[in-house]
Amino acid sequence: MRLSELSLKGRRVFLRADLNVPLSDGAIADDTRIRASIPTLDYLRARGARVLLASHLGRPKGEHNPTFSLAPIAAHMAIPLATDCIGPDVEAAIERLTDGDVLLLENLRFHGGETENDPEFAAALSKSVDVYVNDAFGASHRAHASIVGVPARVTEVAMGLLLERELEMLRRLRDTPESPYICILGGAKVSDKLQVIESLMDRADRMIIGGAMAYTFLLARGEGIGRSLAEPELVDTAKRILDAGKEIMLPIDHVCSTDLSGNAPAVTSETIAEDQIALDIGPRSVKQIIDALADARTVFWNGPLGLFETPPFDRGTCGVAAAVAECAGFTVVGGGDSLAAVHAAGVANQISHLSTGGGASLELLEGKALPGVVALEEHA
Ligand code: 3PG
Repeated sequence: MRLSELSLKGRRVFLRADLNVPLSDGAIADDTRIRASIPTLDYLRARGARVLLASHLGRPKGEHNPTFSLAPIAAHMAIPLATDCIGPDVEAAIERLTDGDVLLLENLRFHGGETENDPEFAAALSKSVDVYVNDAFGASHRAHASIVGVPARVTEVAMGLLLERELEMLRRLRDTPESPYICILGGAKVSDKLQVIESLMDRADRMIIGGAMAYTFLLARGEGIGRSLAEPELVDTAKRILDAGKEIMLPIDHVCSTDLSGNAPAVTSETIAEDQIALDIGPRSVKQIIDALADARTVFWNGPLGLFETPPFDRGTCGVAAAVAECAGFTVVGGGDSLAAVHAAGVANQISHLSTGGGASLELLEGKALPGVVALEEHA
């Protein structure tokens, strides 16, 4: 069902959103996911729905842990927070809702049943629900209770506006990318991105690899990487990828230091000395990326190119954010640090699509079915 087909007035709508935002000392460090969830929430409230807004935050592993409470999110959104997501107190609070009200349920992952997709937990969540709406694109690759168990127990289900747009944009990228199609992948570990590298290699015309994972590839090419982070056990895999005859671009200069603090001197160089750790791509590498993007018709970027959270090692990532923004083609950026860089560089409105999904967008691009989407599409 589409959202527009639902009758909403006076009905209790379970809205699963992905409000899993980064926190720093208990404060919200980036509210992109919250802002992206507002249109569906407003849509439902404006039509008189009584909304039970639900999300996970972090990985509290089935325990009530105040560090992972949704309280900062409730305060940021200026909405009430329930004491839990199931149980008699929550049911009483739901009973008190009137048309257009919203109640934020406490962290779903305070119950182990969420990640285990436990039927009893899913039944408890669905207890007073008339309509289920999934807008949690970022969590739709998880077969968890609130993503697949609840919709299976509710008669009327629909996709939220955010989920609908994410699918439209990312399917366009997956199925009909215009050439030249360039993928930029960063991040710490090759092991986290191996599948996506292999699958995007076949689809993209050129792959640009940065971030710490580039050093496993440089190691595979026999280059000295000093004390840079690498996964030596994946060198053979990296060699196989480099030898596959695809265009893969690696950094050609580096910003190095002796520790990760950002306080030790930073040196820019084409080679990495024995005692140095490469922590960002250098200006020549950024220029190389700018040139590569000049005539791109499609660009996908996921993952930081350096130790983005610690200046001065954020420059490469910010430079790439500006380069992607300059590109006239269809551009998609996903993943927390890449989004933060796009915002820091003030170019967010020049990107065709900012995806709220990290793992979810990668799985979709790899060609995997997302359990949350399957649950809606196959709903009887
Ligand atoms: C994310 O941040 O990618 C989503 O919110 C999913 O979180 P998870 O990786 O802890 O399941």
